Amino acid sequence: MVVARKWIYAKPFEGLPNDGNFRLEEETLPEPGENEFVAEAEFLSVDPYMRPYMASYPAGSVMIGGQVAKVTASRHAQFPVGAYVFGNFGWRTHTLVKPDGVVGGQRADDKPYVLPAFGSHPRSLGLGVLGMPGNTAYFGLLELCQPKEGETVVVSGAAGAVGSVVGQIAKIKGCRVVGVAGTDDKCAWLRTLGFDATINYRTVGPDGFGGALKEAAPKGVDCYFDNVGGYISEAVTGQMNLYGRIAVCGTISNYSEAPVRVRDPQREFVFKQLRQEGFIVTRWRQRWMEGIEQNLRWIEEGKLRYQETVTDGFERMPHAFVSMLTGGNTGKAVVKV
Ligand SMILES: NC(=O)c1ccc[n+]([C@@H]2O[C@H](COP(=O)([O-])OP(=O)(O)OC[C@H]3O[C@@H](n4cnc5c(N)ncnc54)[C@H](OP(=O)(O)O)[C@@H]3O)[C@@H](O)[C@H]2O)c1
Repeated sequence: MVVARKWIYAKPFEGLPNDGNFRLEEETLPEPGENEFVAEAEFLSVDPYMRPYMASYPAGSVMIGGQVAKVTASRHAQFPVGAYVFGNFGWRTHTLVKPDGVVGGQRADDKPYVLPAFGSHPRSLGLGVLGMPGNTAYFGLLELCQPKEGETVVVSGAAGAVGSVVGQIAKIKGCRVVGVAGTDDKCAWLRTLGFDATINYRTVGPDGFGGALKEAAPKGVDCYFDNVGGYISEAVTGQMNLYGRIAVCGTISNYSEAPVRVRDPQREFVFKQLRQEGFIVTRWRQRWMEGIEQNLRWIEEGKLRYQETVTDGFERMPHAFVSMLTGGNTGKAVVKV
């Protein structure tokens, strides 16, 4: 018998989440049945999408999320004891997994998978550069922005899990890369990764952002990978070049706050013949391992670097989540159980 701890979405979010939104509970798991296994979480992910997505779950649900977990008991041939898996099991220390069925709010095609070998790199990368955020950067940038050598690529949320990978892939493709992030330390780290220019949006503010962007991208912007929305995206859209491409990945500036009013961008879209497309990374579910394998190759070749902000202790999940939403992380935010 295994006693699992799980974080419950106790009260709907309003504004920035706080301790009152969460409750820690325990649950005793039964032994796995035929084609089931028990997974013990090693690392859990805290991601921005949890903030807007929880709105579609009733209070009392287990918080949603991905984890890297070890199979500790199994009656499923594809998930033997000792294997490490990625699964969207939620904020739980232990999970009875029925990989062939639909669990909770999980989609039928949202199946756990055994982690590929990461060489000398930590398994937690399966939540970051070698998992969903890395694939978001890989497919979102290459498929939607299609950056060409010599073009200028701007990425907002640049020092985070997705943004830091986007900028480095754009460098691999021979682009000039401008990163937008919220602290001087993050900007300095991005420049060590090869970003050509950075803007600390908090110090320049909404009024200074357009001027700072003109300096950082003097030839205009060909590709914009948008993680944040709001005034940053308004300003970048205003400085796009003819036939510019915008991949809309996220709008974190309005996940916990009301969206700010921005200027109508339609004129820019017409006269500069821009293309903008939103996406969810699971669009490329069928090519999932391609993204992971390519990002791993680039890591092995020294072309792609990663950083993680690791919070110790399952009991600190809410803290890690709120800290990530407010910029406390550099690179991928994960929790070690
Ligand atoms: N479409 C998809 O399939 C998909 C998949 C994964 C992620 N996403 C989206 O991609 C974005 C980044 O996700 P991530 O996992 O890489 O998170 P992350 O960037 O590692 O962490 C979130 C970061 O957002 C920044 N931020 C917070 N409030 C902000 C604001 N008002 N304006 C600008 N930046 C703000 C903070 O950094 P600063 O210190 O720089 O402010 C914080 O560190 C999110 O919008 C997320 O929803 C989309």
